[in-house]
Amino acid sequence: MIRKKVIAGNWKMNKTAADGVTLTNDIVEAVGRDPSVDIVLCPPYTALESVGRALEGQSVKLGAQNMHPEKNGAYTGEVSAEMLRALFVTHVILGHSERRLYFGETDAFINKKVLASLANQLKPIFCVGESLAERESGSTLAVVQRQVEGGLLGVTKEQITTVIIAYEPVWAIGTGKVATTEQAQEVHAYIRDLLTKLYGAPLAQKVRILYGGSMKPANAPELLAQKDIDGGLIGGAALEAKSFIELVRAAAAAK
Ligand code: 13P
Repeated sequence: MIRKKVIAGNWKMNKTAADGVTLTNDIVEAVGRDPSVDIVLCPPYTALESVGRALEGQSVKLGAQNMHPEKNGAYTGEVSAEMLRALFVTHVILGHSERRLYFGETDAFINKKVLASLANQLKPIFCVGESLAERESGSTLAVVQRQVEGGLLGVTKEQITTVIIAYEPVWAIGTGKVATTEQAQEVHAYIRDLLTKLYGAPLAQKVRILYGGSMKPANAPELLAQKDIDGGLIGGAALEAKSFIELVRAAAAAK
């Protein structure tokens, strides 16, 4: 079963609209026509429209970093699926550990967002991952199971293959401490087993599971060669055209 690799850049709270367009143009020029990798750029809300314009007619996709589950209403500071769709956004990162940690997002709230994104034809990049304390206490798989099952509650067989899952061990995010390929592959395989139990093997084999956490051009080839690692959700290395382009090329070269 061949799953097309995905390289998604999570710019987090970085880049003005103008800087984002420059970065986007450099990426599109270098790898925008590579049909072997799905590329997704996730700028902050304030750069979505400008980056979206720079991506017009290109195959590189536009993603948001978050979304509120409600359609509209009194939710100061929030943005809905419909608003994102109007900017030609196709993907949305949901349940990122920084949202869970700093903004108190729970599995139940993230689940509402996943369902709302799917109902609005947005592809969720649904993030899971354990903290350092959880890994050290041996509860990694239990935590990931709770997050996967909680986040996907009510997602149907028809919908599951449009979900992209990102495994991001919290202790590896922005720390330069990448998970070993064995650590990453173990959790990815476990997530695929969970999906197999929930949706059956044929569908589980189609779901892309990305690794995130200090992925860089130097460590990407080994990670991307693992059986159940289908791409990367990139933070720091997505902020420079050179490193992001190298990551796309590493994904294109991975078998
Ligand atoms: P870094 O690549 O900076 O570790 O960030 C990973 C991440 O959180 C992507 O969502």
